[in-house]
Amino acid sequence: MPILDWVDKDKALKAADGAPYRLLEEVPKLSFGDADHENMLIQGDNLDALKALIPYYAGRVKCIFIDPPYNTGSAFDHYDDNVEHSKWLSLIYPRVELLRDLLTEDGTIWITLDDRESHYFKVMCDELFGRKNFIANAIWEKSDSPRMDAVFFSSRHDHLLAYAKNKEFAEFNRLPAEIADHYNRVDDKGRRYYTKPLRAMGGQGDSREARPTLYYALEAPDGSKVYPVRQDGTDGAWRWREEKVRDESERIDWVNGKKGWVPYYRIYGDASQGRPAETIFPHSLAGSNRTSKSEIKKLFPVDNPFGTPKPESLIKCVLTIATNPGDLVLDSFLGSGTTAAVAHKMGRKYIGIELGDHAVTHCAPRMQKVIEGEPGGISKACKWEGGGGFRFFRLGEGVFDEAGQINPDIRFPVLAAHVWFSETHTPWTGKGKSPLLGVHNGVAYYLLYNGILGDRKPQNGNVLTSRILAELPPHDGPKVVYGEWTPFKADRLRKEDIVFKQTPYDVKAR
Ligand SMILES: C[S@@+](CC[C@H](N)C(=O)[O-])C[C@H]1O[C@@H](n2cnc3c(N)ncnc32)[C@H](O)[C@@H]1O
Repeated sequence: MPILDWVDKDKALKAADGAPYRLLEEVPKLSFGDADHENMLIQGDNLDALKALIPYYAGRVKCIFIDPPYNTGSAFDHYDDNVEHSKWLSLIYPRVELLRDLLTEDGTIWITLDDRESHYFKVMCDELFGRKNFIANAIWEKSDSPRMDAVFFSSRHDHLLAYAKNKEFAEFNRLPAEIADHYNRVDDKGRRYYTKPLRAMGGQGDSREARPTLYYALEAPDGSKVYPVRQDGTDGAWRWREEKVRDESERIDWVNGKKGWVPYYRIYGDASQGRPAETIFPHSLAGSNRTSKSEIKKLFPVDNPFGTPKPESLIKCVLTIATNPGDLVLDSFLGSGTTAAVAHKMGRKYIGIELGDHAVTHCAPRMQKVIEGEPGGISKACKWEGGGGFRFFRLGEGVFDEAGQINPDIRFPVLAAHVWFSETHTPWTGKGKSPLLGVHNGVAYYLLYNGILGDRKPQNGNVLTSRILAELPPHDGPKVVYGEWTPFKADRLRKEDIVFKQTPYDVKAR
């Protein structure tokens, strides 16, 4: 497959692996509302923040929406949007790589860009996701009127690229569709429908000769046999195979006319479950830059509240198509906090990451207003009245120091998450109260660290001795035990079905 190359791409390929695992530290004074919500705002560089999320959220995010700097060459008040083209690609590549790893198997990622970088980005994503997982390059009508000073085109749209982690599993929600007037009958459950003759009519394929398998006898209500007959009296064909008629017999209506019994089939107005998403997001549905400017002004009535917000309706469209209530949504270029606000109002869980000070000056206060029932944006459409909460985090120390040693201040649950993820490549959901981290594919993983067995002397509690082994929660099968040391020789370990791994040397960051 042809791939994109640029200066220093080799470094970009290693950047995600090389990024340190850092701790996320809550800043309670910036958190707000109910504490038991999973919602997170994180201030920091998203490369490190995404890496910090990997041991806990790999494979758990249903939908990612990002609106990264477009590389417009501008210096906005809140962030710089002017980096050399190769640098932009190097900035984006490792971040999208980590974002891909955070997606669920049926998850999707959506990215807005303009003509400056979108085509390069598409080729980069083909490499990262596989061409088969490309869904569409939709367009968002960002402007509701032309710019009269434009020299060539007055650009009215941005690109909205969508990729699936794995297109075989991804599913889009259908959108509500009006039921047209010709669905003029109603069944006993109140569903509207109309009928069409079951006999194939017109075209090449309505004769017995053309479709021999669709020529068979159906039994009419009086027990007589009915065959498909064309207008000219020759043998015809049914539209459905015999098994389908049997399986969907409740959709068949028989009418006794002049020429005898004739079968019809019902087409329900709701049978198609709404209409599919379309690749054009018009401003009348998704809002425009004018909409978002007015939304942000209402939220922050100051001179220059935030230069490049997206309208809430645009993100509502994306989340309506790609998520259901309770799903986890992530935006790692959060800006003024629009994705978090929309996810919150729509009953989705979310993680938002923002580098700039506006994480504190915009995102946190905006979410606080949302929790208090902020009425703007999509609130009316979602019947939003307030509630919920979020926790605010900043990036803390590294889990490992530069020599790869475990930072001595690391607590048991943090190391447990890293050990579990490096062994199983699945996120850790344990509580950190037991040395048994869990069982994966029949293998039990144990961690002896920080005196987890209650023995505060680490050299005792962290060493795999016969006494400690007897205290471990039992597992009838292979075991992997991480600890500082073990006096057991190879034959004893084999007999106990244990693979012993030494902390810190065998704890791999990724
Ligand atoms: C176009 S704005 C996003 C606007 C957002 N969609 C909204 O509705 O407000 C891009 C944001 O990405 C942030 N950003 C740029 N590089 C970043 C990084 N490495 N980590 C986290 N955020 C970053 C910028 O500070 C800026 O706020």
